[in-house]
Amino acid sequence: AVTEAHLYDNASFPIGVAVSAGNESYSIVEDSEAGEKRRQVVVQHFSNMTAGNIMKMSYLHPEEDSYTYGDADELVQFAADNGMTIHGHALVWHSDYQVPAWMKNYSGDWEAMLREHVTNIVSHFAGSGVVPSWDVVNEAFVDDGSYRSADSVFHQNMGESYLEVAFQAARDADPAAELYYNDYSLAQGGAKLDAVIAMAEDFIDRDVPIDGIGFQGHIQIDWPSATNIEQSFAQAAATGLKVRLTELDVPINNPYGGSYDYPNNYHAELTLELANQQKQRYCQVVEAYMNAVPEAQRGGISVWGVEDPSSWLIGQLFDNNHDDWPLLFDEHLSAKPALQGVADAL
Ligand code: XIL
Repeated sequence: AVTEAHLYDNASFPIGVAVSAGNESYSIVEDSEAGEKRRQVVVQHFSNMTAGNIMKMSYLHPEEDSYTYGDADELVQFAADNGMTIHGHALVWHSDYQVPAWMKNYSGDWEAMLREHVTNIVSHFAGSGVVPSWDVVNEAFVDDGSYRSADSVFHQNMGESYLEVAFQAARDADPAAELYYNDYSLAQGGAKLDAVIAMAEDFIDRDVPIDGIGFQGHIQIDWPSATNIEQSFAQAAATGLKVRLTELDVPINNPYGGSYDYPNNYHAELTLELANQQKQRYCQVVEAYMNAVPEAQRGGISVWGVEDPSSWLIGQLFDNNHDDWPLLFDEHLSAKPALQGVADAL
């Protein structure tokens, strides 16, 4: 497996990448030299894309009575032109600025409204034939394993029932699509993963449609341990559902938890040693996935972004004076050792 080849040729399952689209920075459709290079790299190595933003709730459904599919349709066209598929992300997500303002203030029949939202979006893309899978609900649990409620308008208005309403509506709108529950902090196992699995098993028992569990995989370079990650994948695979690594990234510095011990332990540049450590870490995580998830249940692996400077971790979690290099391609869109690390594990 060499990085000059297609990364996806090594896998029997989708190898994906999150892309910016429309007029976002680092857009896959950007009309520039960098845009051209980005398209080349994405088409060469990946068989699948996730829209990093432009297929989220507030983008697609900004007003109660209007849907805006232009940017997403352009991405679908790019995928179709290049024989790629798209993992739809995300139909229902509590996150404050992702929920359209009108929806937050909605005072009508929530169940009917949510059903319509999911139905309209899934039906739209079912027609394209390019979106074979969806994150139906994103981040419905908090870390202690209870349902997220304090900051979820869905839970506040519908209780836990919103999950099954969304999954059922998605199945009805596109019976062929694979439907995922997606969340973060699953790779380390524990109460949250247990709760997600219990929910999935309850769905299976009651014939509520669900096909897979998505591990976001925003991991750290040295945590959780490979053993721990492998056990967590195995625990999810034991449900019989598909398991997908949906948003893998490996920052060099630890961006989580508010402060990251700056300047102690802060790496201000990606040395060759660190780049190789990152390569090993990517390899280790993908190996854990391969070891724990039987081939028929491998839903796919996606990294959360193309080139390092486009990573959400830089804008979201580091202040702007600090840098990181969490992805497989550098700022010039050249392959990093990390890409070979993934290839080695497949
Ligand atoms: C992030 C995007 O990458 C950012 O550009 C955006 O500002 C916020 O959302 N978990 C998810 C993703 O499920 O949708 C998030 O993506 C990253 C965390």
